[in-house]
Amino acid sequence: MDQEMPKAKFWGDVGKDSLPGDWPGSGGGSTDANLLAEIRFWTRIMREHSMFIREGLPCDRSDIIRRAQEFEERFMALEAKVNRATTITPNLLRALREAVSDLIEFKHALLRMMIQCQLRPNLYPLLIDHITREAVHFLSLLELAAQTQPGEAHHLHVLLRRVVFWMRIMKEHIEFIIHLLDPSERSLIRQAHEAQRTFVQLLQTAMELESMANAQPQFFNTAARFVDEAIARTTELRDFKAAANELLLMCQVLSAIPSPLLADHVRREADRAIIEMREIREQIPVRRPV
Ligand SMILES: [Fe+2]
Ligand SMILES: [Fe+2]
Repeated sequence: MDQEMPKAKFWGDVGKDSLPGDWPGSGGGSTDANLLAEIRFWTRIMREHSMFIREGLPCDRSDIIRRAQEFEERFMALEAKVNRATTITPNLLRALREAVSDLIEFKHALLRMMIQCQLRPNLYPLLIDHITREAVHFLSLLELAAQTQPGEAHHLHVLLRRVVFWMRIMKEHIEFIIHLLDPSERSLIRQAHEAQRTFVQLLQTAMELESMANAQPQFFNTAARFVDEAIARTTELRDFKAAANELLLMCQVLSAIPSPLLADHVRREADRAIIEMREIREQIPVRRPV
C-alpha cells in the first residue's frame, strides 16, 4: 500500500456543466438490475458465512453443525432462485428477509455462547460480530426494497454511514488476515499492518465526517474528496486480497486460513465496497467555492 495522495476527482465525475449543488446520479436510487445484482452478491455471501461457521465449529457440537448446514442449504436454494430470477418477486423477497433474519439470530446465539465460554469454535468472536453486521446490512437493503418508495436514501448522513460500514469491514478484514497468517510470513504481515494503519485512519475520518453531516450542509466537498481516497485505498486492498488468494491457490503461503475461498470472499466484499462507494461519491453534493 503506497501512501501517495489519491487523485481526488473533485468535480471531474460530476461534470463541469452540472449546476452547483446538484445531486449527480440521483435518478431515484438503484435500478432493478442493480438491486438484483446486490441481492445475488449478498445471498452468496450469506451461504458462505454459514459454511465458514460450520467448518469452524467443534466436531462434538453436531447440533450446531447441523443448524449451520441447514442455513447453508437454505441459502444455496435461495441463491439458485435469485440467480434465475429476472426480478425480485414479493414472495422471493419475503423468503430472503426471513432467512437473513433467522441467520442473524443464529449468529447472535453463537456469539452469546462464545462470550459466555459455552462454545469454543475455531472462529474469532469479532468474526461472528463482523458477519452479523454484514447480514444486518443485507437485511436493511431487503427492507428498503420491500418499502418500494424512495424515502431519504440519498441523505448525506445515510450515505456517509454506509462509508463507515465499509471502512470498518475493510479494517477488520485486514485484522483477520494478520491473525491468520503464519508468524513466519513477515513480509505479508508487515504489508497487512501498513494497510491496517491506513484503514484505522479512514474509519476514524469516516466516522467524523458522518457525525458532521448531522449539521446538514448543502454540500460537502471534503466528504467527496474523502470518498475518492477511500475508493483508492480499497482498490489497493482489493488487489492485496486478490494476490493473497493467488498465493493460497498456488500453495505459496503459510497460514491458518482454512480455505482460499475466504480470501476470495473478502476480495468480493472489497469489490462490492468499491461499487457502493462510487455510487455514494456520485450522490454527495459538491459545489464550487465562490
Ligand atoms: Fe462476509
Ligand atoms: Fe467481511
